Amino acid sequence: MKIAWGITGAGHLLESSVDTINILKKEGHDISIFLSGAGEEVLKMYGLYNQIKNITSNEYYNELILEKDQERSFPMTGRFSLGKYDLLVISPTTSNTIGKIVNGIADTLVTNAVAQAGKGQVKTLIVPVDLESGELETVLPSKLELDLCQKCEECDAAEACPNQAITPGVEINLLKCKGCGACQMACPFEAVTGGKKITIHMREIDIKNTEKLFKFPGVEVLSSPSKVMEFTAKNE
Ligand SMILES: Cc1cc2nc3c(=O)[nH]c(=O)nc-3n(C[C@H](O)[C@H](O)[C@H](O)COP(=O)(O)O)c2cc1C
Repeated sequence: MKIAWGITGAGHLLESSVDTINILKKEGHDISIFLSGAGEEVLKMYGLYNQIKNITSNEYYNELILEKDQERSFPMTGRFSLGKYDLLVISPTTSNTIGKIVNGIADTLVTNAVAQAGKGQVKTLIVPVDLESGELETVLPSKLELDLCQKCEECDAAEACPNQAITPGVEINLLKCKGCGACQMACPFEAVTGGKKITIHMREIDIKNTEKLFKFPGVEVLSSPSKVMEFTAKNE
């Protein structure tokens, strides 16, 4: 199948989305990856950007397409209105992107891909982060734990960071962090965590927006990225 896969800026379901893309690629599907600007940043924070880069190539329908290279009119999304793809998948999908989609807004690479897929009648699968009311357990990228940080004069974690992302005793600049984990290994006080689990509360407005998505023609809402493989297996 020719699959276009959009990744938005969500940490939740990100690793399992990348795992699913890897498997589908090994099964022989063509996959173009469309990254929202936030999707690119967040992939880097979780140390997953290089995996995505390595999966893609310059070959037609197997490219990595970045929002920042597409300016404001997203010419690459013309492929959807021309029906060039068999399937569009968005996973993970942030509350922001769902909110825009259900209100017909198409001002990012990924929301524009969904709009053009609707016009080109390309089947669209969406895996939202905000699916059910209540609490959700999710994972954080690298984090400086200030209660454990000893504010050493020479900070081993900061020195180990290849991107100068750490201000010792203060914070990690996530926009510089590439999620390599060198800081976690270097700090003798275990003051840098990675993949820490936290519980967040789902907002009702985000759940309501996801409910609206269930009624969208041509769109199917899936509860996890791995369900995409069930869809491709059935529709080969
Ligand atoms: C580390 C990190 C993790 C994030 N995880 C989520 C998330 O799981 N769900 C979500 O809706 N937004 C999350 N965000 C916020 C989005 O990235 C932000 O709303 C962004 O504007 C979304 O843009 P996009 O929908 O165009 O990708 C996260 C941000 C950061 C920095």
